[in-house]
Amino acid sequence: MSSTLLGSVLPLAAAGSARMKRAAAPLAPADLAEFISVTDFENAAQARLSPMSRALVAGGAADEITVRWNREAYDQLRLRNRVLVDVSKIDTRLNLLGADLPHPILIAPTAYHRMIHPEGEVETARGAEQSGSLFVVSSASNTRIGPIAAATRQPLWFQMYVQSDRGFVKEVVAEVEKAGCRALVVTVDAPVVGPRYRQIRAKFKLTPGLELPYMQDINKGRDSVLRGGNTRMTWDEIDWLRSITRLPVLLKGILDPDDAARAAERAVAGIIVSNHGGRMLDTAQASLIALRAVTARVDRRTPVLVDGGIRRGTDILKALACGASAVLIGRPVLQGLAVAGSAGVARVVALLHDELEQAMALTGRTQLSAIDRSVLWE
Ligand SMILES: Cc1cc2nc3c(=O)[nH]c(=O)nc-3n(C[C@H](O)[C@H](O)[C@H](O)COP(=O)(O)O)c2cc1C
Repeated sequence: MSSTLLGSVLPLAAAGSARMKRAAAPLAPADLAEFISVTDFENAAQARLSPMSRALVAGGAADEITVRWNREAYDQLRLRNRVLVDVSKIDTRLNLLGADLPHPILIAPTAYHRMIHPEGEVETARGAEQSGSLFVVSSASNTRIGPIAAATRQPLWFQMYVQSDRGFVKEVVAEVEKAGCRALVVTVDAPVVGPRYRQIRAKFKLTPGLELPYMQDINKGRDSVLRGGNTRMTWDEIDWLRSITRLPVLLKGILDPDDAARAAERAVAGIIVSNHGGRMLDTAQASLIALRAVTARVDRRTPVLVDGGIRRGTDILKALACGASAVLIGRPVLQGLAVAGSAGVARVVALLHDELEQAMALTGRTQLSAIDRSVLWE
């Protein structure tokens, strides 16, 4: 990143005090030409977020060992470059649960976008529109699904923290179906929340006035933004949820191949291998390593997706080589949102997409279906 650009960012950080509740004004899209990798967004976002939002975005559980392992797992895999293949046309399109997508990079569900940008999830949806990305809207959204859906023509999925009141859950499902969401992603790894030292030290709380329309347990004081979760949820809840919706149901937060096999036996629509970006059980397995175990166990009819630590196009190539149908990106999207709103979100995805195409060309793969284990040097 150029010193000019840094110059335009750092004074804002100095001006931003601990009292700063919202992100500073986003950069103009023209400034983003200077951002050449996802890491540039990570650095610039540091300077533009309040201490509380910084802890929210960057933090993981406890000593953040799983956060580190998520990255290390990608760095440790080596690729085989292949030569003298016609790579003049690279095609990253795919069909995922009936949706035609230009690339396999999805926006992961993340909470509280209005802590990051004044227009919150609506702005993220605009970024999804600009980048051709499927956006998985979090049930910890600060915005109702209607205005989010109005901001993008790209497909939306809705992530659910299943609340304890079934009547309320039915209303939420009806609302997201009506808004046109095409799948439900049930997060299953959060009966309680891991001890997030950074957020606790930053005395994290939701900015007063921000709403959580789909988190009834928090709103009724049964739960806190730092504690979590529906502690009674079991496989029965998944069966019940499937009985009340016509939407496909994916499970997010599976790492153990036994759990994956159980999900596949129940014919769920998909599995998202995830350790929640290292925010739940510290020292849980890196998601890329778990992905390999899971895809070895479930048959290919169940789509398996993965998230956690994906920061480069080569990471995406490796995830696909290990059997993922698509990947989800968490923190980089929030960092893009903090830096430049929808244009920042779109630039993050575009950088990753470009890098994926380059990695495919350099490994001699012209379409996603040609990416398999032989891309890896093992
Ligand atoms: C600030 C933040 C909030 C998150 N909120 C949610 C959420 O509401 N629901 C959910 O299923 N996962 C949530 N996640 C986890 C992401 O969906 C995803 O699993 C994770 O961020 C992927 O790792 P990465 O950030 O390294 O890309 C959150 C992650 C972050 C960083």
